[in-house]
Amino acid sequence: MARIQAPRGTYDVLGDMALARERVEREAAAVLVRAGYARIETPTFEATELFARGVGEATDVVQKEMYTLEEGDGSITLRPEGTAPVCRAYLEHGMHKLPQPVKLWYLSSFFRRERPQAGRYRQFWQVGAEAIGSDDPAVDAESILLLGELLERLGTGAVRLVIASLGSPEARADYREELKAHLRAHEDELSEEVRDRIDLNPLRAFDAKHPGTQRVMERAPRLLDRLPAEDLEHFAAVRGMLDDAGLAYEVDTTLVRGLDYYTRTLFEYQSSTLEAAQNTLGGGGRYDRLVEQIGGPATPGMGWAAGVERMLMAAPPQPVAPPPLELYVAYAKPELRSAAFLLAADARRAGHPARLELGGRSLKGQLKQADRAGARYVAILGDEGTSLKDMETGEQKTVESGTVMHHITQGL
Ligand code: HAM
Repeated sequence: MARIQAPRGTYDVLGDMALARERVEREAAAVLVRAGYARIETPTFEATELFARGVGEATDVVQKEMYTLEEGDGSITLRPEGTAPVCRAYLEHGMHKLPQPVKLWYLSSFFRRERPQAGRYRQFWQVGAEAIGSDDPAVDAESILLLGELLERLGTGAVRLVIASLGSPEARADYREELKAHLRAHEDELSEEVRDRIDLNPLRAFDAKHPGTQRVMERAPRLLDRLPAEDLEHFAAVRGMLDDAGLAYEVDTTLVRGLDYYTRTLFEYQSSTLEAAQNTLGGGGRYDRLVEQIGGPATPGMGWAAGVERMLMAAPPQPVAPPPLELYVAYAKPELRSAAFLLAADARRAGHPARLELGGRSLKGQLKQADRAGARYVAILGDEGTSLKDMETGEQKTVESGTVMHHITQGL
């Protein structure tokens, strides 16, 4: 029969990859907990409505990338992103009553029906951080700084920080009309995809790879030139704090992201070493209307998410030490298996990493296996009692039964 494989665009996590991902988790926790972020884990699926309203009906994510199941009289979707779910949880648990902003971080898997390729999967992991309940530009600057710090600690190499501001949806509405008029005036030069979506999502045209479209976009009006004073002031304050922190960035007036909830600050960290199609390690921005869009009171928010796979692609693999093994319990003949089994169990209960021979190997084979596993000591149960071998010095001694643990803590 044909062997069954993992679905396209998914992968198994094992070996060094599992250890590398543990490091991502440790570093993320170190950076974020220090800044007051608490861990959150939301369900893998949510009401489809949450993403339709939160992420936006017009986005590629909602239009073609969600895994949706009809269930009873409702519809549920495997989460394609984490911001809308975290806002849903914020509302559901009355977190607006806590001191604001409420800072939450996650490391979770997400699902998008994308064309699988290096750095793009259908199930992928993100580290994310959301600060909900304050529109202070210091929240934006701090949030951007924290992702920079995480990337630095992971050693992802040269990165480019790109920032922009989108302003409020009202400010954007006028601009959208202006941009649509510009696109219509040059309709015959645009790609079919952009032409078909002039009304639905004109801003996406900035993202197009089509040369004709790119030429039209070079001459397009820029949102940043149309922002009202209070949005410009907010953006200037964010930039000022990034300058004070010595963080280098570029303002990119054409930056667009694939989710509709953004207002004001928008940013991305792009790797200079990964290929352009997958070079965004992480990004995010402010989403001051999202909580309201999903049925809550007006509540500002700011956050980001970074792809675990992308960060690991950009960071050179670190030598990862295998987990320590203090004691390997070998035995000379099958009758001694029970005693060996108990010794290994007792050692673990006393806090020592210990393993029992389980492969039915010869004594010689057992010693070889203990060596391969990196055991510090091997206890060998034989007819003449128990002997303990120090694998570092090669010293071997017969010990009183019941003193093995004493010897592995005190030395032979
Ligand atoms: P996003 O830009 O869609 O933002 O995703 C953030 C990061 O997740 C990307 O920069 C990329 O590293 C990784 N990523 C996205 N899709 C895939 C994929 N198919 N395979 C591998 N990695 C992927 C968000 O999801 C927003 N929720 C970020 C945010 C949080 N904004 C505000 N708060």
